[in-house]
Amino acid sequence: MSELQQAVRDKYGAIASAVATGSPRQGCCGPTACGCGDPITSNLYSAAETHELPAEAVSASLGCGNPTALIDLAPGATVLDLGSGGGIDVLLSARRVGPAGKVYGLDMTDEMLALARENQRKAGVTNVEFLKGAIEAIPLPDHSVDVIISNCVINLSSDKDAVLREAFRVLKPGGRFAVSDVIVRGEVPADVRQSMELWVGCIAGALEETEYVAKLRRAGFDTVDVEPWRVYQVDDARTFLTDAGVDVDRLAPIVDGRFASAFIRARKPAAEACCGPTCCATP
Ligand SMILES: C[S@@+](CC[C@H](N)C(=O)[O-])C[C@H]1O[C@@H](n2cnc3c(N)ncnc32)[C@H](O)[C@@H]1O
Repeated sequence: MSELQQAVRDKYGAIASAVATGSPRQGCCGPTACGCGDPITSNLYSAAETHELPAEAVSASLGCGNPTALIDLAPGATVLDLGSGGGIDVLLSARRVGPAGKVYGLDMTDEMLALARENQRKAGVTNVEFLKGAIEAIPLPDHSVDVIISNCVINLSSDKDAVLREAFRVLKPGGRFAVSDVIVRGEVPADVRQSMELWVGCIAGALEETEYVAKLRRAGFDTVDVEPWRVYQVDDARTFLTDAGVDVDRLAPIVDGRFASAFIRARKPAAEACCGPTCCATP
């Protein structure tokens, strides 16, 4: 495991343990204290969505959007959440796909998996399975999933091409990719990119918008769309940079408006092009 992956695992393992024991969280997706105005993770879900969920699933929410609001999830569908954390998006999706559907949550951090399974138990939901593994090597067969969701996780990976290739592989033809992630618009100073603290807080590893689109297309997706919905201004940027060991006064104005939370949608083509009367097999 790389130093970066270990740092990500340590950070999110500590957050899961804090939530499980009812201690205040020390940090989240964004390096400030959570639940008190963090510019990335605050105000993502409506009360109608959260009121039936276990409190620990809501307080463990570390995302940067609400991917379940991005897409219609039909009853009976199979959904995969990449980096499912405490399970909030898995539990919300499980309601929507109903008893005939199935939702997988995939996470590499044992403490998060334990918290998510406890939240599943408290929610009394049975059409859910939490899997241990890396989003760069998804432990599911080819063509087995209708919809992939993810909430502020792909930015944390040091091999985003592998993540997108794997997402494409496990989706069924016509399957949809609907994720929430932090993106960058334009250049970001090297000292921000090099900060481990900012990487594990979902900032330094964020892809540039056009690069995200290019990587999705290269993985085979079509109908790619990136929709920034919350652009971080200079005061938010100050919050990100605090405690990250970088020169806040110099960098905050430079990164003003450069980071955004975005909805990213794409589709796996429905079937290979038909080339004649006998060679048009659906994969
Ligand atoms: C920012 S949190 C988001 C959690 C959840 N999606 C949410 O919205 O609350 C990132 C989660 O992704 C997991 N994670 C990060 N990198 C991963 C990887 N390469 N493979 C699997 N899980 C990963 C972490 O363990 C953590 O639970």
